[in-house]
Amino acid sequence: MKIGIVGLGFVGLSLTAVLASKGYNTVGIDVDKKKCKKISNGNSPFFEPSLEKILRNGLKKKLTVSNDFSLIKDCDIIFVTVGTPQSKNGSIELGMIKKSVRSIGKILQENKKNPIVIIKSTVIPGTMQNVILPILEKESKQKAGKNFGLISNPEFLQESTAIRDTEFPHVVVLGGYQTKYMQKAKNFFSKLHPNTSIIITNHQTAEMVKYANNSFLATKISFINQLSNICQNIPGSNIDDIAKTIGLDPRIGELFLDAGPGYGGSCLPKDMKALIKFAGDIGIRPTLLNAVEKINQTQINQIVSLLEKKVGNISSKQITILGTAFKPGTDDIRYSVSIELIKKLLKKKAKIVVCDPKAIENTKNVFGEKIYYDESITSALDNSHCGIIMVQWKQFEKLNNKSIKHMKRKLIIDCRRILANKKLDVEYYALGIGK
Ligand code: UDX
Repeated sequence: MKIGIVGLGFVGLSLTAVLASKGYNTVGIDVDKKKCKKISNGNSPFFEPSLEKILRNGLKKKLTVSNDFSLIKDCDIIFVTVGTPQSKNGSIELGMIKKSVRSIGKILQENKKNPIVIIKSTVIPGTMQNVILPILEKESKQKAGKNFGLISNPEFLQESTAIRDTEFPHVVVLGGYQTKYMQKAKNFFSKLHPNTSIIITNHQTAEMVKYANNSFLATKISFINQLSNICQNIPGSNIDDIAKTIGLDPRIGELFLDAGPGYGGSCLPKDMKALIKFAGDIGIRPTLLNAVEKINQTQINQIVSLLEKKVGNISSKQITILGTAFKPGTDDIRYSVSIELIKKLLKKKAKIVVCDPKAIENTKNVFGEKIYYDESITSALDNSHCGIIMVQWKQFEKLNNKSIKHMKRKLIIDCRRILANKKLDVEYYALGIGK
């Protein structure tokens, strides 16, 4: 069996590496030639724990990485994992997926294997039937369900645990028509993930499942962030104890109740906006989803107002931001709340110093020389009027009295409460802990 994967971002490259390391004859395709070369040499274009190890393992077996689409002409399965980024009006940008599917369609004519095209990219309900299927049939001059299979297969992996999630997904969703191709896909996935439930449904339900999943996660985060803001005004109360306790109720569950500066990343904010826009387009007013978004957008104000309350006018004052990645375990800063915070503080003319174990290079691409960068927590805090912990990197938990010794004012705002139980010679404020 030969498998092609089109689009080598977090989802596509993780899948390529995992399949190749399991011994599948795999071909990874991406339009970016430089990226392909890097991957072929065993280097990942982004930081993701375990990815390089598993990629190098795959490269020793049957893996080819190239920008040449024609290599998929003898594939039995072709995964599409290209991005569907956010456009200005909140909807998703279909440019990349249309282009890839057009190229795949053209090659389908030459493919004598009756392949299955499996779409993993996140798309709004109706996109498979109204956009992707017509393009594939037009370009290939063939019929879906007859000459080739077409299946929706939403992906739920999280950055920082992408390899584990690719190997052991919590569910496999297959959307499409009940044809022989669906049965073939089911056989493939049950062999790949023998202990995972497979849900078989239609295209539009599979498309919607992904939005349901991510919007529910976003709702949990905004819920706990709202409660966190209330707790902060109840002296002595602690949001983590509340989250832990309600999380023990199996109806609620303990995950995604970690209060903080709001959700970021390349998926949750984008999927929320796309779902809200889609609901509006079909005549539904998504009151709850709008509130979730609103809470997320205003959470950053909690940090700014706490900072100004304690420091006063921040113009020309040095503020140290600990963490710019959108979460720990990644160098990804897309829609990172920390990046938004820095922009806000720069507008107020603060001097910004940042420290992040992995995301400094990406942060430099955004701010260049407008801010300062430091690899050490201690020197990043030297001369600062306030240190703000934005990301719960393990490294920041090591912060001690030595690290803060040369701060101009010993003041820490901890958005993730990682220092809440430490005895530090510092004025300490944390989101979600009432003072
Ligand atoms: C998310 C979904 O979890 C995943 O299923 C989907 O496939 C892609 O989008 P990811 O973007 O990797 O994954 O990030 P995630 O771990 O969900 O975190 C998103 C944001 O929410 C981060 O900014 C994170 O810090 C924040 N978050 C998460 C919280 O603030 N509190 C929590 O309890 C959990």
